[in-house]
Amino acid sequence: MDNFIQDLDILDRNSQEAMETVRTSKEENTGKTKKLYIESYGCQMNFADSEIVSSIMKDNGYDTTSEYEQADVIFLNTCSIREKAEQTVRKRLSDFNNVKKRKPELTIGVLGCMAERLKEKLLEEEKLVDVVVGPDAYRDLPKLIESAEEGLKAVNTFLSREETYADISPVRLNSNGITAFISIMRGCDNMCSFCVVPFTRGRERSRDPHSILKEAQDLFDQGYREVTLLGQNVDSYKWSPEENNKAWLEKKEKSAEAIEVVNFANLLEMVALVSPLLRIRFSTSHPKDITDEVLYTMKKYDNICKYIHLPAQSGNSRVLDLMNRTYDREWYINRVDAIRRILGEECGISSDMIAGFCSETEEEHQDTLTLMDYVQYDFSYMFFYSERPGTLAAKKFEDDIPLDVKKRRLQEIINKQQAMSLSRNKLDLGKVHQVLVEGTSKRSEEQLQGRNTANKVVIFDRGSHKKGDYVNVLVHDCTTATLFGEVVES
Ligand code: SAH
Ligand code: SF4
Ligand code: F3S
Repeated sequence: MDNFIQDLDILDRNSQEAMETVRTSKEENTGKTKKLYIESYGCQMNFADSEIVSSIMKDNGYDTTSEYEQADVIFLNTCSIREKAEQTVRKRLSDFNNVKKRKPELTIGVLGCMAERLKEKLLEEEKLVDVVVGPDAYRDLPKLIESAEEGLKAVNTFLSREETYADISPVRLNSNGITAFISIMRGCDNMCSFCVVPFTRGRERSRDPHSILKEAQDLFDQGYREVTLLGQNVDSYKWSPEENNKAWLEKKEKSAEAIEVVNFANLLEMVALVSPLLRIRFSTSHPKDITDEVLYTMKKYDNICKYIHLPAQSGNSRVLDLMNRTYDREWYINRVDAIRRILGEECGISSDMIAGFCSETEEEHQDTLTLMDYVQYDFSYMFFYSERPGTLAAKKFEDDIPLDVKKRRLQEIINKQQAMSLSRNKLDLGKVHQVLVEGTSKRSEEQLQGRNTANKVVIFDRGSHKKGDYVNVLVHDCTTATLFGEVVES
């Protein structure tokens, strides 16, 4: 299998294509009669959704398999963020369609953002797709598969204002048993002009904090030691019974502990209190919404990791305005200054950058490079602008930067980031880092790997340590992507 990639931690942190990479489902054998193969593209939220889908399918008689040739149902959980992401999926569909020619009873489903964007059109364009299901309609999957088996058109791309799958306990796919994702909200209410997500994921809604806490506690009880709270804009997490959930209000009559409004800082604190041995990470923070309250909560709890993914997109205020990011360069710098003031130089900061947005001049591109110099990012995901049909930018602006110019600007951004990652990593040399062990290093069975609080991968000799341990590692070497060291007594 050409793109069967099981464990992407290192790759994830270093490839600007990371959001378009694949994860396939693990083998799970609980004696069910039918087999599901699911492949996920796009962001962490899509990976988390695949775990919800697997849970729904498990309740309906499907175990997951890592061999697509053996599957009764193949799902592709897709991404629409850039054109290339959609091209990758189309190529993959043609692979699966070859299997279907040999095995006509196979059901092929397209889920996720591309399903939502193209709807019925997908059935027409890709003749051998049987089922098309958008991100808010996964509860309907078993019914839709039945319809498809009966030869009916099986499409549900209804977007919900309430669905958070709060009650569904995800089947952990590709899990190392130590780190897991928890979705805390869905959708996005921002309208960044380049972005397709508000159209594919619908309105923003926050998940009931009780169910988030329960999921964190269950994971901890099963031996997990790190959770990443996921949302497109976690800082706007807001849960109040009145706004969010009538069903909860009914339950509240019977519940002794009534929670009033919960914001993201409150939620972070609640999850941090599950256990000091459970690390908390979160993604993504939006520069317009990240508050000092969140930063002080991070400071208060050692188990909240000191790492913030704070996508800037551009360093130029005019471009940021065209992007409808609703902050300017000065505001962004003010937020970075607050991070440094409250959490210090050690706090990891990463970004997403877009090169060659509509009408971006050379000077404006230089502003992105100088912003990078100012912030000293540990890591960035970097892209060139890809026009997406239906977005505000596609309607209002001309995609006028030639591809070679976009690519050259992107390369300049990548070069700067690489140099910066190395110099940031060099600052870690000679220091002791607390590392949560995630498993064996890809390079050698004799070595383990984990991450420090700032999300950097650390590799060291195994000794008597194992997955799930916290160890102190004295770092003595590094590359742009990885720190190397040896375990020391604390
Ligand atoms: N909610 C997150 C981003 C989710 S999409 C946030 O607001 O930061 C992940 C990244 O993909 C974005 O941060 C952006 O850098 C990139 N991206 C989104 N749309 C794009 C497009 N049309 N072309 C190129 N990159 C894009
Ligand atoms: Fe897209 Fe902007 Fe929402 Fe992020 S905040 S998902 S970039 S619209
Ligand atoms: Fe892609 Fe959808 Fe995520 S477009 S980046 S999978 S929200």
